[in-house]
Amino acid sequence: MKFFLDSANLEEIKRGVALGIIDGVTTNPSLIAKEGYSVDEQIRKICDLIDGDISAAVVSLTAAEMVSEGRRLARIHKNVVVKVPMMPEGIAAVASLAQDGVRTNVTLCFSAAQALIAAKAGAYIVSPFVGRLDDIGVNGLGLIQDIMTIYGNYGFKTQVLAASLRGSLHVIEVAKAGAHIATLPYKVLQTMFGHPLTDKGLEQFLKDHNQSLSLSELVSQ
Ligand code: E4P
Repeated sequence: MKFFLDSANLEEIKRGVALGIIDGVTTNPSLIAKEGYSVDEQIRKICDLIDGDISAAVVSLTAAEMVSEGRRLARIHKNVVVKVPMMPEGIAAVASLAQDGVRTNVTLCFSAAQALIAAKAGAYIVSPFVGRLDDIGVNGLGLIQDIMTIYGNYGFKTQVLAASLRGSLHVIEVAKAGAHIATLPYKVLQTMFGHPLTDKGLEQFLKDHNQSLSLSELVSQ
């Protein structure tokens, strides 16, 4: 399973990269807007920090405009994956970009039918939003399971990226469902490290180590 960071913040990305377990980054227009730089500028900086797939979203609404915006984004760096919204114009753009060899990520996917369309269009990645579905009382995990079954039935190559993850339980559940990628807000990544028994165990190990050190110092005097 690949871990992406769901962030456009350079400090978070640097910290994530330093851990050695991050395979890529997803951004969206809301995350880019928080950083105060243009999408091109911010994506370029992110590409300098990590060698992995970096999703950058188009913001136009017609297929022709999305194609030209997508081509521009893809020229920023070889690792850029063009993020396109799930809508008829977006799907036409995905099919056209796929023919040019530009990799796409179909975003704002909320149903298995939408995921099936994305795969048919030749999307490189599809992003079902787990948390936003849970927020409206729909089972987001069930969507990941359905997509994995459908893609498995037909051997679609499109990778399933579980997006809108709110906590470590979400990550575990989508991993159990077989999602290829989980995109993690930095805070979610941090929570995945923690366990009270780890903290307690480490404290005890260090205490015992320090006591044995003081003992051996006493003996050697
Ligand atoms: C990632 O590609 C999505 O844009 C992101 O996971 C959405 O997360 P949110 O629902 O927390 O905004």
